[in-house]
Amino acid sequence: MSSPTTTSTSFSQDLLSWYDQNGRELLWRGLSDPYAIWLSEIIMQQTQVATGTAYWERFMAKFPTVQQLAQAKREEVLNLWQGLGYYRRAHLLHEGANAIAQMGEFPTSAQAWKDIPGVGPYTSAAIASITLNEVIPAIDGNALRVYARVFDIDAPVDRREGSKMISTLAHQHLSAARPGDQNQAIMDLGAHICKPNPLCELCPVHIHCLGRQRTTVSDRPIRQSRTKVTDEDWHFAWSVEGGHALVTSRPKQGIWPGLHCLPQLNQAPEISAKSWQFSHKLTHKNLTIHIHEMVIESTEAQSIPLSQIESCNWPQPFRRWLAKNNYI
Ligand code: ADE
Repeated sequence: MSSPTTTSTSFSQDLLSWYDQNGRELLWRGLSDPYAIWLSEIIMQQTQVATGTAYWERFMAKFPTVQQLAQAKREEVLNLWQGLGYYRRAHLLHEGANAIAQMGEFPTSAQAWKDIPGVGPYTSAAIASITLNEVIPAIDGNALRVYARVFDIDAPVDRREGSKMISTLAHQHLSAARPGDQNQAIMDLGAHICKPNPLCELCPVHIHCLGRQRTTVSDRPIRQSRTKVTDEDWHFAWSVEGGHALVTSRPKQGIWPGLHCLPQLNQAPEISAKSWQFSHKLTHKNLTIHIHEMVIESTEAQSIPLSQIESCNWPQPFRRWLAKNNYI
């Protein structure tokens, strides 16, 4: 197993000194309220900090405590989440709030945090290191990239051997005094310097980086499998009659769970008054969304006055389409 040539202490110290000077000033940094930190970590899971911060503020303002979030209606949570994408997180956030409210206290270790819906190994480690000072590395995709370069990991990081190497080394090199700050320093380093196209000349730990010494940085991390992305065409009806539009609710499972949507068609219709089409990328699908203006019959859809469609919980691509066509 590769290991940096310098000691773990100097790696930590250099990283933390840089973080103290250059770490991002995020609204939740410096807070010890586990609710605020848990919320930030759920929101940031698949979201850039620049986008997620405004959502974190809105959630904190509307639901200042976990009990208030737990008591909210699912619709209200989805409403506030609108535009963030990956809506399953919003459902899990609400389920998580209910689990915590029922327990009567926040979990007191990373292991216990993992029992909360929506909290996996990375999120539990991030929360426990930040709020409880637990010495556990938080390793997401960005951190994997940073560590794979610093430790020059030549095994695939998406396989057990490579991820085990990284987790062991990351543990060994984590500051016992400031594990939460060091984890967040790695997050900032991954976001701004050790990016897919890295800025090694700005890196505060380049002297510790084996990848740089061995000129393997651009070959790290190694990944074995890329999940296959498929191209799909999805068709929807824009069915408007008498100032009302047909609107459905998406199933609780799958894409855009529980959100409002236009009625989905099994295939492209033979005739429609007008059609629009646009692309939308999901993690494993490149969708081409087709919307066809046509009056249909549906037992599942609700007929909603056009004046009220703005207040529905639309997935982002549909809200964008409605706005672009002046329907909202
Ligand atoms: N991404 C997820 N959590 C974060 C945090 N605490 N700081 C910076 N980026 C993050």
